[in-house]
This record gives sequence, structure tokens and C-alpha cells, in this order.
Amino acid sequence: MKNISLNIDKVAGFVSKETIAAYEPQVKACMETLENGTGKGNDFLGWLHLPSSITAEHLADLKATAQVLRDNCEVVVVAGIGGSYLGARAVIEALSNSFQWLKAKQDGPVIVFAGHNISEDYLFELTAYLKDKKFGVINISKSGTTTETALAFRLLKQCEDQLGKEMAKKVIVAVTDAKKGAARVTADKEGYQTFIIPDNVGGRFSVLTPVGLLPIAVAGFDIEKLVEGARTMETICGPATPFAENPAAVYAATRNELYKDGKKIEILVNFNPKLHYMNEWWKQLYGESEGKDGKGIYPSAVDFSTDLHSMGQWIQEGERTIFETVISIENPEHTLQVPSDSENLDGLNFLAGKRVDEVNKMAELGTQLAHVDGGVPNMRLIVPELNEYYLGEIIYFFEKACGISGYLLGVNPFNQPGVEAYKKNMFALLNKPGYEEESKAIQARL
Ligand code: PA5
Repeated sequence: MKNISLNIDKVAGFVSKETIAAYEPQVKACMETLENGTGKGNDFLGWLHLPSSITAEHLADLKATAQVLRDNCEVVVVAGIGGSYLGARAVIEALSNSFQWLKAKQDGPVIVFAGHNISEDYLFELTAYLKDKKFGVINISKSGTTTETALAFRLLKQCEDQLGKEMAKKVIVAVTDAKKGAARVTADKEGYQTFIIPDNVGGRFSVLTPVGLLPIAVAGFDIEKLVEGARTMETICGPATPFAENPAAVYAATRNELYKDGKKIEILVNFNPKLHYMNEWWKQLYGESEGKDGKGIYPSAVDFSTDLHSMGQWIQEGERTIFETVISIENPEHTLQVPSDSENLDGLNFLAGKRVDEVNKMAELGTQLAHVDGGVPNMRLIVPELNEYYLGEIIYFFEKACGISGYLLGVNPFNQPGVEAYKKNMFALLNKPGYEEESKAIQARL
């Protein structure tokens, strides 16, 4: 069976293969630091061997709960933000039919997301939509106190009356800490079913815990295959694999060398709109892990070919501080040929008989050559197909590379102290109890 693979040939004109290969001892040291748990943030390494430690019983439990939601709900609201949201959405959107929610006949509950914004309009429209629906909620928060998620859940809990207490216990599930936080307290008091987020797995590394696995199972996708793919990558990206054959090691080394060489921005690229949220998940993983201590590659993302008609100009000719990593899907799920047209009014008969994917692939190749000519180094992550197994491989590959890359950069990739600054100001401005001093100080600045 094929696996995902990394191709760095189109980086060679910018940094030599020898320079990348010279990273081997440093990367080995970072990997040992991860394995031995001797580095910064070592209390958050639960993701490292998570795929191989997930048991069949755990997956069966998740699937059983997912089935209850699938049997009883027309809509399931997945409430969460950041690491408690993006991984599930990335996988669900990558695997879903692009027009799923418009289908008259659904083959499972419609999945909607909440708790990732504080928009009054969004929350009004969501609660209005749920008014006549049989709905369930998966309330996901490790801390159990995140304002965006807690606020959405408070509103959703009000709609609970239409479900009735007994049904609410069946279709409201909390994914949270084992003991602490408001989400835990509420779930225990109301008798909701709960799944635990392990202490040693941080939000952005948690997609293979119930945070991601439960919503993905509710959406009807195969979580066993997802974990199997991640498990394969756990081995391939592990310490026993030689440097040159370890895609996570090579990716981490290459991006750090490009960064040293002045390439401060990495753009994750896809040529399939289903990967939009994979971009978002990756942005969080790398942005929150590496952007600290005045350092870090800025993770940006585009969806091609649509963004070639907007950001394409900047990428081709703007400041030369960027490099690209393209997620390239080798085989689409469906087959569609360009039809011939006897009148050829649109002049497209030169494409007649070709697969649409061939046109897309030539757009991808043409873009790669143009961008490399324009001074943009280009890496490609080649993915045989877009399915659960390969998404599991992608997830673990990026997680492992992120751990190595953060250590190469010299930061703690597993904390996010900078995220607190806006919260402190928001709580002070809203007069949250306990923030009296901050409230006074902030009022004086207005
Ligand atoms: O990666 C992280 O740690 C964050 O993005 C968190 O996942 C996010 O802030 C949500 O936190 P919580 O799960 O505590 O509600």
C-alpha cells in the first residue's frame, strides 16, 4: 500500500540537498528529546504515541455514542474552538460531499459548528435553525471555560427544552477534562455522557482524541481507518526510520533552513476545496506552536485555483520571503470528462475527452513551475487519495514534523501563552468578576 510522501526537489534551487541532509544530527536530537520527554513542554507529549495506544474498545465506545446521535438527530452541533474544533472540521469537510447539506435526503445528521465565534447573527441564525429540528450537541472544551464555546453551549442548552430531559441526556455529549471546568460540572449535574481529553494532549494536537474522533464518527466516517493511517505514520516518522526516508524529519529540516534563508512565510496550498479546513487546522498547528519568542514561520494558506486569481499575483511577484507546501491529491474519488462540443463556442475542444483532474493537475504543475521561476521554493506532499486512511497519515505527519520543527527553532511548541492577552482584555472590558484591577486599568486607556 502506498503512503503519503514528501517531494522537496523544487527546493533545490534555493537550499541545497546537502544543506538539508546536514540537519540529520540536529533532527535526531530533537526526535530523541521528544521520545525521552526531556524538552520544553514535555507534559504535553501525549500525542506522540497516541495512534498506537488507541484501543479497539475506545473506538467501539466512540462509535456506539456516535450511533446514538446518528439515530436520534437530524442535526448535530459540534461546539468548540481552536484545537477543539478545527481538526474535526478539517476531516469532515475533506470527506463530505461538497453539496451534502443541500441534499433533500440526508444519510445521517447534518453537522454544523458553533462555539468558534461570538457573532450574534451566527448564533441567532443557528438557534433559529434548530427550533424545529431534532438536534444533538457535542460540547468540546478541554478547559471547559472557553468563552466562545461556553456562550454557544448556554444558548444551545436553552433549546434543550424542545428535546426533553431524557432525550437531552442521550444526545448531548461533553468532551472535556476528567475533573475540572464548567463543561465537566454541567455534564455531571445534567447526566450528559462524557469523553475525556487526556491531560497530556494539547488542543491543536487533539484531533485523534474524542475531540476529533467523536464528531468524525457522527458524520459517518471511518475512525478506525483514520487511526490506522496515523499509526502507519507514527512508524514511518519514528526514530527507527533513516533521516532521508522520514518525511516529518525532512519537512521540519527543510522549512527551518528556508526560514534561516529569509523565507519567513509558508503557504499551504491545495487544489481541492475540500481541503480548505485542513489548511485552517495546519495554520493553527504551526502558528500556535512556533509563533513565539519573537520567532516563527508565519503559516498562511490558499485554495487554488481560485486564489490564483487573487493571491496568485502576490505569490508570483511580491516580496520574496515565501515558500509553498502543496498538498497534492493523486487520484480524485470521481471521474468526469470534459465533453466535446460541436460548436466549440468557448474554444475548449482542445480539452475534450480529458479528465477534469488532468486539467487541474496541469494547473498544479504550471503553477509550481511559475512560482519556482518567480523565486518561491516549493515542496509537495503527495497523497494517493482523499480518504480516512490518508487523512490520518497527513495529520500525524504534520503533528510529528511540528514537534521536531519547533524544537529545531528553539521554542516550546506545546504552549500558547500569547493567546491569553486578548482574553484578559475582553474579560476586563466585560467586567468579569476577578478582573476588577484590569478593568480599571483598561478603562483608563480608552
Ligand atoms: O490548541 C489549543 O490549545 C487551543 O487552540 C485550544 O484548543 C482552544 O483555545 C480551545 O480551548 P478549550 O478546549 O479549552 O476550550
